[in-house]
Amino acid sequence: MKMEINGKTRTCGLIGNPVEHTLSPMIHNTLAKLLGHNLVYVPFPVDADKVAQAVEGADALQLLGLNVTVPYKSEVIGSLREIDELACSIGAVNTLVKTEGGYKGYNTDMEGLYRAMVSEGIRIGGEQILLLGAGGAARAVAYLCAVKGADKVYILNRTLSKAQTVAEEVNRTVGREVIVPMATEDYTKLPDGKYLAIQGTSVGLAPNTEEVVIADEAFYEKIHTGFDLIYNPWETKFMKLVMKHGGNAYNGLKMLLYQGIIAYELWNDVSVSEEDAQVVYKRLREQFI
Ligand code: ATR
Repeated sequence: MKMEINGKTRTCGLIGNPVEHTLSPMIHNTLAKLLGHNLVYVPFPVDADKVAQAVEGADALQLLGLNVTVPYKSEVIGSLREIDELACSIGAVNTLVKTEGGYKGYNTDMEGLYRAMVSEGIRIGGEQILLLGAGGAARAVAYLCAVKGADKVYILNRTLSKAQTVAEEVNRTVGREVIVPMATEDYTKLPDGKYLAIQGTSVGLAPNTEEVVIADEAFYEKIHTGFDLIYNPWETKFMKLVMKHGGNAYNGLKMLLYQGIIAYELWNDVSVSEEDAQVVYKRLREQFI
């Protein structure tokens, strides 16, 4: 269906810095076309000292919704009228939904990762999980794993104190000792067994495609499934090492896809079919292979 921008077009967008390389317009404008919605999605670069003004301005312009990306996912919380309970626990918001008198903030990254894992047949409940990293992204992953019933999640981080902070917060929130903080170099002390490993650091992101948090190949013998939150490059060094040692490996593009789909569902009060999700995924994938 051909869509004309006219007086009834509703606008959504992305605030962040930088925003030039975002794939979100492709996700949302494709969905609008597939679903026949009169909606456009555009990127808005926002300077560090203008985040609150940007949200206020968006409200004044009655933008239907916004995504928020690096580096404003925590800072934007101060500009919200309301925050979803889950997003509040995670301490990061990536989606704003227009309500009467301001925006309500959500975190669709975490649910997006969950839907991506479900679509790949990856289980969290009852699993032994290794999580590389303790930054903003890894924190949300730790929370997801705890909420979805992982048996144990070992956070391996270069800076042990950050892993300890995440572990304390998440364990307190879920009321059990599920997260175990460790320094990365102590990976040899992990209990025997096979793990689901989630790579949540920025190490290996293009252009540094040859980098990996743990280079020792013996480590990869412990991994039955590796999930990297990075999707550029399509196959990270971490994924290559997992596969070399017999494990299955996945990149973060489906997480990106589903966090976008969930945001779109919140803005439009619709449910996106799996068939439409796959059409969008195919377009995203074409950017890489
Ligand atoms: P994000 O929001 O993308 O998670 P972040 O909050 O800055 O970004 O977190 C980056 C993560 O990658 C951290 O876990 C960081 O480790 P530290 O806590 O020790 O800083 C990890 N990281 C980044 N560069 C790294 C490197 N060269 N080696 C190991 N870990 C690295």
